Amino acid sequence: MQYTKQEIAEMDRVQRIKFINAVSGVKAANLIGTISDTEVTNVAIFNSVMHLGSDPALMGFILRPTGEVPRHTYENMLANGSFTINHVNTGIIKNAHYTSAKFSDNESEFDLCGLTEEFVTGVKAPFVKESHLKIGLEYVESIPIERNGTILVIGEIIHLVIPENAIGEEEDIDLAAIETTGISGLNTYYELKKLDRFPYVRRHEVPDFKVL
Ligand SMILES: Cc1cc2nc3c(=O)[nH]c(=O)nc-3n(C[C@H](O)[C@H](O)[C@H](O)COP(=O)(O)O)c2cc1C
Repeated sequence: MQYTKQEIAEMDRVQRIKFINAVSGVKAANLIGTISDTEVTNVAIFNSVMHLGSDPALMGFILRPTGEVPRHTYENMLANGSFTINHVNTGIIKNAHYTSAKFSDNESEFDLCGLTEEFVTGVKAPFVKESHLKIGLEYVESIPIERNGTILVIGEIIHLVIPENAIGEEEDIDLAAIETTGISGLNTYYELKKLDRFPYVRRHEVPDFKVL
């Protein structure tokens, strides 16, 4: 199948969201934890988390157009400048997925989706206890993407929790060992399998693929 720009534009809105979400490949499955001004905790699934350079260590995610739908995650992080990113592992995919439902601002997805909040000194937002790799961040800035109304939200890492058994040689993190998952589109979850590991490559080390 081939699709033109026009055919993509004419797709049913929901079908297009799912389809275009899937074409970039498997994306990280993360739960973002926040807390409101009135101390109501919030957790929601996001598949657009990315790293944005390491000095200082920044991470970002794409927020859908805010429009009329309340975005509790975003409102909370603007209100108190704190959020957490928590890997979704194979044991909590269902709980994680259900956090995407629209809950009212006095309900906590932690209670309603069977997840446990966990607090660490110095980070106001809650972590997800069941998650194995967790990142505490300070909100930094938002960059609007004018072409489609999405927003790149940026935070700086202030706290990291990584199980010792996941940290390998040369600061590798073995995501398969901690059962981190990936997402295709908006509905399908994958587990990870480590295939191989290659060193940093210098020009003269590139093999001759024509003879291999
Ligand atoms: C698999 C999956 C991935 C999602 N990724 C994103 C995302 O990257 N950005 C976004 O704005 N919404 C994303 N959503 C939708 C949010 O989870 C949903 O809008 C949620 O209700 C937001 O919660 P909040 O209002 O508490 O912030 C995703 C939903 C699913 C099911």
